[in-house]
Formats: sequence, C-alpha cells, structure tokens
Amino acid sequence: MTGSLLRVENLVVEFRGGGAFALRRETVTAVKDVSFHIGAGDAYGLVGESGSGKTTTGRCVLGLQAPTSGSITLGTDDVGELRKRDPQLLHQRIQAVFQNPIASLNPAMTVARILAEPLRRLVGMKDPAAARTRGEELLDAVRLPTDVLDRRPTELSGGMAQRVSIARALASSPSLIVLDEAVSALDVATQAQVINLLADLRDETGVSYLFIGHDLAVVRHLCDRIGVMSQGALVEEGTADQVCHSPQDDYTRRLLDAVPVPDPTVKRVRHGHTTR
Ligand SMILES: Nc1ncnc2c1ncn2[C@@H]1O[C@H](COP(=O)(O)OP(=O)(O)OP(=O)(O)O)[C@@H](O)[C@H]1O
Ligand SMILES: [Mg+2]
Repeated sequence: MTGSLLRVENLVVEFRGGGAFALRRETVTAVKDVSFHIGAGDAYGLVGESGSGKTTTGRCVLGLQAPTSGSITLGTDDVGELRKRDPQLLHQRIQAVFQNPIASLNPAMTVARILAEPLRRLVGMKDPAAARTRGEELLDAVRLPTDVLDRRPTELSGGMAQRVSIARALASSPSLIVLDEAVSALDVATQAQVINLLADLRDETGVSYLFIGHDLAVVRHLCDRIGVMSQGALVEEGTADQVCHSPQDDYTRRLLDAVPVPDPTVKRVRHGHTTR
C-alpha cells in the first residue's frame, strides 16, 4: 500500500533465554511474521490475549526493541536506522502513552515541567514563558484546566494523569502515538472519556494511533482497522466492523465471546462523529 505512514513488514522478534539456566537456552518467538500498515490519521488497534506479542510489536515500532528480522518504516525512514542516526527526530515523530499514568510521570516534577521537557528537547522551545503558554494550550487540548500545570502527578486522578500523558505525547506534534493499554487501568466511565478525547484529538491534529489493548470492546470504539494477535502471529486483520461482526478466525470469535454482545443502538465514535 502506498501512502501509509507506518509499514510493519514481516516483523519477527525472538528472545533468547539465558540467566540462571544458561545451558537450557530456550528461544521465545514473541512476534511471528507480523505485517500491517497504518495510514496518516488512522487509528489501528492491536488486540489479543496476554503474551500474544502486542507490547513487543509496539516496542519495535517505538525503536525500543530491535527486530530479529523484518522491517518497520515510518514515512520513508527505517525506524531502526532513524533511531541510530537521529534519535531525537524519531522521538519527535513517534510518541508513546503507557498503561499506568501516574507511574509514567515523574512524581518530583510539576505538570508544567513535565510538558516543558519534550518542548525543550524535541521542539527546541527553550524560553520558559513560551513553554508555559504552550503547556496551557496542551492542557486545554486534553480538556484539563490551566491550574493543573502547578500540580504534581500524585495530586491528579488516574484519568487526569493519563490526559497529562497524552498532552506530553502531543507536545512534539508527532505523526504517530503508540498507546499500550493506555486506558486499561482506568474505570469504565473514564475509559470512555479518554477514548472520546483520543478520537477528537485525532480529528483535530491528524495524528495516527497504534492502539494496543486486550479489550476488543474498547479498541473497536476508536480504531478504523484492527489486527488480532495470538501467540505472536497476526491471525486476523480488517476493518473494525469486519473483525467484530464477521470474524474469520476461531480465535477472534473466542475473543468476541468474551466481550458483551454489541448493542446496535449504542453510538460509536468514528472520526469524531457519532453514528448509529
Ligand atoms: N525481554 C523479554 N525477554 C524474554 N521474553 C520476552 C521479553 N519480552 C517479552 N517476552 C515474551 O514475549 C511474549 C510476548 O510478550 P508481550 O509483552 O509482547 O505480550 P503482550 O501481548 O503485550 O501481553 P500483555 O497483554 O500481557 O501485555 C511473551 O511470551 C513474553 O514472555
Ligand atoms: Mg503488553
């Protein structure tokens, strides 16, 4: 496919065992020949049971894990090469949001400093007053009041802290954000609010998402396309409707069986518009 922002081709990741039982080295193949593309402004969902290889795939996309074989291309750049050549440019272009919002924010820093850090390092915004103004804009973008700038992560609810993590990810105006179980630690009502926020932000900024989760019911509310992983392999791929309404793979059917039957009258978020 041409025009894709991110292309993951034939990704394989093997972990060689070692440690205390170094004589019995077992190789774990965490990702087996996985390929998918994400278009600019698209949200791609990766779902699957625990240990199916989702985080490992996300870490490869972020350049944190080297593939054993296969390639990951962002625009025209190989992610591994870009990481070696210009790690700052890679960080500017691909950002991450993780599961535990409070643990992923430095507890010693105010939100103002947390947001100023990527502005200084990745955008070259060195003037503290300019960074504070931009910090206010970023908080506004994630629907948080300005006074949050002077609080520390431990003074925020989980939902507010995750909004700060999203604001920090947006600071460098990335083209892609990898969200790994980004709403899994939040209660159901807060999950829905953050999912709606992510849908709005995508419309407003044109950012793309790789949204990793184990809960198909959550992932399908945000994502245009969904890939289903099982034991390291991508066993099914298609539009959110195809995967949820006419799954081709037995494993996807079992995953759907674990999810409440969708109510067709429930409104769904798609490109910021609600459809029935
Ligand atoms: N650094 C590592 N060294 C050895 N094995 C690893 C390493 N990281 C992951 N694995 C193994 O790779 C497989 C895939 O793990 P991964 O974390 O990618 O799964 P996941 O789909 O994200 O699971 P979860 O839903 O629990 O987060 C698992 O068998 C895991 O034990
Ligand atoms: Mg994981």
